[in-house]
Amino acid sequence: MRVLVIGSGAREHALVLAASHDPAVTALACAPGNAGTASIAEQHPVEANKPEAVTALAREWGADLVVVGPEAPLVNGVADAVRAAGIPCFGPSAAAARIEGSKAFAKEVMQAAGVPTARSEVVDNPARLDAALDRFGPTWVVKDDGLAAGKGVVVTDDYDKARAHAVTLLDGGHPVLLESYLDGPEASLFCLVDGTTVRPLLPAQDFKRVGDGDVGPNTGGMGAYAPLPWAPEGLVDDIVARIVQPTVDELAERGTSFSGLLYAGLALTSDGPHVIEFNCRFGDPETQAVLGLLETPLATLLHAVATGKLAEHPPLQWAPGAAVTVVLAAEGYPGRPRVDDLITGADGEGVLHAGTRRAEDGSVRSSGGRVLSVVGTGDDLEAARSKAYDVLRSVHLPGGHHRRDIALAAARGEVAVPGSEQTRAMTSG
Ligand code: AMP
Ligand code: GLY
Repeated sequence: MRVLVIGSGAREHALVLAASHDPAVTALACAPGNAGTASIAEQHPVEANKPEAVTALAREWGADLVVVGPEAPLVNGVADAVRAAGIPCFGPSAAAARIEGSKAFAKEVMQAAGVPTARSEVVDNPARLDAALDRFGPTWVVKDDGLAAGKGVVVTDDYDKARAHAVTLLDGGHPVLLESYLDGPEASLFCLVDGTTVRPLLPAQDFKRVGDGDVGPNTGGMGAYAPLPWAPEGLVDDIVARIVQPTVDELAERGTSFSGLLYAGLALTSDGPHVIEFNCRFGDPETQAVLGLLETPLATLLHAVATGKLAEHPPLQWAPGAAVTVVLAAEGYPGRPRVDDLITGADGEGVLHAGTRRAEDGSVRSSGGRVLSVVGTGDDLEAARSKAYDVLRSVHLPGGHHRRDIALAAARGEVAVPGSEQTRAMTSG
């Protein structure tokens, strides 16, 4: 099987790496890729968001499977175009990708499917903003109703900050989505979906804020771990039954079947799991941790999804233990990152590239905000954490920064769902 992966982040490096271990894979390419994917896959330039460009490359290269990593190409119809050319494609149609591309569409689908999520209101008229803000609080959640790479959200107890963010969005011509605040730890559940059948992967947690202790601005994700040792028994089955399957069924009923990876971003509240957001693709950086434990050959599995044969695929096999990934970001990220810095020590095991490129002189240079993800696996979270941070010590990026507390609270047993047995044990102890 000839597999073409579209994208250039550490998520795509993780996908390419896992595919390279699949005995069914005879050739592997990544477009446009980065300095890391180039060492294990053919590299092809492509405008990833252009359906014709991706389809032309897939045809010329003779792909048997195209795997689309990021959301923007999916929202732009890349998977539709590849499938129309008769090539199996892992990733939803543009119509189904709206589950991520439009928060208002996602809310409408969830409401129709009876899926628990935050109460919300869309405001597109500045004159209605103040009255709408008064219907929320004391913690406000203010979102951009569109693709914003996790950065269009402000969660705050400060009315003035909430209002200022909403005004900025409205001034820029973006409708604003206000939501009720969901309490409890967050979890990401990735589900393979072939239109009807749903297969969950291991649950994971990511760290969206830039600084230790969850301070500072939101980012695309600074680290992640899987699985969740603190998850209540049956959590994954419960999420599939109450959230993912009803959403998949609702999309199918509307004639916009979802095929690919449906990512449920959840708040595990005292009132059960609630959806914060859906994404239409593998999450970054959770994928780097989750695939670190997957033993099932990945390309064969994704091909089964792309061809509607997920139900016939054998159960997934996982390595025991835990995986932790830590993101090394460039100076300035999540603001404007400094680029072109020399990176050394980034070719070892467990180092996945994101914003990197190979310069003319053969050196590896930074080329984006999130530069690398390092991955460590081990018998438990503590072991996986120390492995990941060991790997990180061997990498050098001038001005680079990373969080030091990825998976720390979970490894110490300090995470629990509010109202669960564990919380009662923690607070009475
Ligand atoms: P989103 O872009 O919708 O994924 O939001 C980014 C981050 O903002 C989430 O990962 C949460 O940490 C936070 N967030 C979003 N919506 C809510 C909500 N309704 N309640 C609490 N936190 C939220
Ligand atoms: N981990 C967050 C995202 O992929 O959107």
